[in-house]
Amino acid sequence: MDFSIKAFNTKNAITQHKSSCIAVGVYEGGKLSHAAKALDLKGALGAALKSGDITGKPGTTLLVHLSSGPAKRILLVGLGAQDNVSDRNFTSAVQAVARVFATLGANDGMLALPLDCVTGRDAHWALRAEVIALRESVFRADGLKSKKDDTANGVRKVTLAVDVADAATKRALAQSVALANGMDLSKTLGNLPPNICTPTYLADTAKKIAREFGQSVEVLDRKQLEALKMGSFLSVTNGSQQPPKFIVLKHMGGKAKEAPVVLVGKGITFDTGGISLKPGSGMDEMKYDMCGAASVLGTMRAIGEMALPLNVIGVIPTCENMPSGTATRPGDIVTSMSGQTIEILNTDAEGRLILCDALTYVERFKPACVIDIATLTGACVTALGHHNTGLFTRHDDAHDELANALIAAGKYANDTAWRMPIEDAYQEQLKSNFADMANIGGPPGGSITAACFLERFTKKYTWAHLDIAGTAWKSGGAKGATGRPVPLLTTFLLERVAR
Ligand code: BES
Ligand code: MN
Ligand code: ZN
Repeated sequence: MDFSIKAFNTKNAITQHKSSCIAVGVYEGGKLSHAAKALDLKGALGAALKSGDITGKPGTTLLVHLSSGPAKRILLVGLGAQDNVSDRNFTSAVQAVARVFATLGANDGMLALPLDCVTGRDAHWALRAEVIALRESVFRADGLKSKKDDTANGVRKVTLAVDVADAATKRALAQSVALANGMDLSKTLGNLPPNICTPTYLADTAKKIAREFGQSVEVLDRKQLEALKMGSFLSVTNGSQQPPKFIVLKHMGGKAKEAPVVLVGKGITFDTGGISLKPGSGMDEMKYDMCGAASVLGTMRAIGEMALPLNVIGVIPTCENMPSGTATRPGDIVTSMSGQTIEILNTDAEGRLILCDALTYVERFKPACVIDIATLTGACVTALGHHNTGLFTRHDDAHDELANALIAAGKYANDTAWRMPIEDAYQEQLKSNFADMANIGGPPGGSITAACFLERFTKKYTWAHLDIAGTAWKSGGAKGATGRPVPLLTTFLLERVAR
């Protein structure tokens, strides 16, 4: 999909712009937006409103065919009450336009919604919402179907009407497209089957990103991981034929001495549970257990395309969790890279076992902060459902600041996170009689004890943990990766440049 922006004002009237279809807003109570009024040369739009065929309710649409004028069709879309257009109202309006555009018998279209109408949001926010919704509507997961989904129809060239087409607006568009590209990569990787999207495949993808966007990459293999004494990570790979990889992707766009932000993504390319085998039904969805890794790669791609002036390091421990005669057993005790010993009471709690060694490894970067992203626990889905990512940090001033920045970025990006506690009382559930800790803390507060486990490996820096088990993909008829939390992470990084 091709985007361009065009500014309309008194000198350059919207009525001069030829287009197969122009989408304009209407407010609740039967009011045409500014652009809609300007285009209503013969009164057809006013009449459509009067008829009651469209009311301005958010996300409703009406396609009006015109016999004359610069556009053959006008798509009216409801924005809600004029004095209170919420994020949600605007987003559902743009999604509705995207749905109509996707099946329209036209190749080009224009969006002329009022970008300054959303309560508490600026025009750049609205521009990004438009790009993301439009790109979402043309995303396909048919790469492995021999007959591709129908794409004969639909708008491919989109003009976005803006008030001023200055450098800042152009940059906002370019950044929105880069974010959409990052989300697409993250979704595509998530949706790929586990026989294709192996640890080696993720490493090759990181190499491709590095090449395309001038980042540097290093991929460590089993021998190097053994030398680093990553006994916890390696214990998870014992049952698998696929070689483990440890990916380090560096985007050094900032000053040489500036401390980097480090993103650590869980890259289990398939999670059977290991010897603590998962039930068979729905197990295919454990191909999504690398969505933390996919979100790191998607974010690195987005900031690479943006040439963001910031130092960011993406780190991905990746392997399969398989049962076999050589697999790790419940009861095995392993020594992590940090020296702490772990009694593995359940081989299905493998995410924390690969992450803890990665969290120790990243100490060497003297990070400004470390954020890990993981499809870590079913318990997080129980706690927060599919709306919010679980956010965990320690509770002191530095960590409150990091948590608040992540929460704010999530709100701006429509990719929200909800903060959960880390407290000593939960730490006690990880007590082992035979090792420094157990890898599970029992069912109560399962997402919290998982975070408490990780916390023990993050004492040397400011750290946040995002549990994306409920938000990284959808099940059922709409099964597919969501691209979350690439918008949250990318927005968080963009904000760090601005400050
Ligand atoms: N990858 C899963 C977490 C998961 C499960 C995400 C279901 C999304 C949906 C993780 O490795 C896992 O299996 N966690 C266990 C932990 C338990 C054994 C303490 C879980 O959540 O059941
Ligand atoms: Mn598991
Ligand atoms: Zn897992």
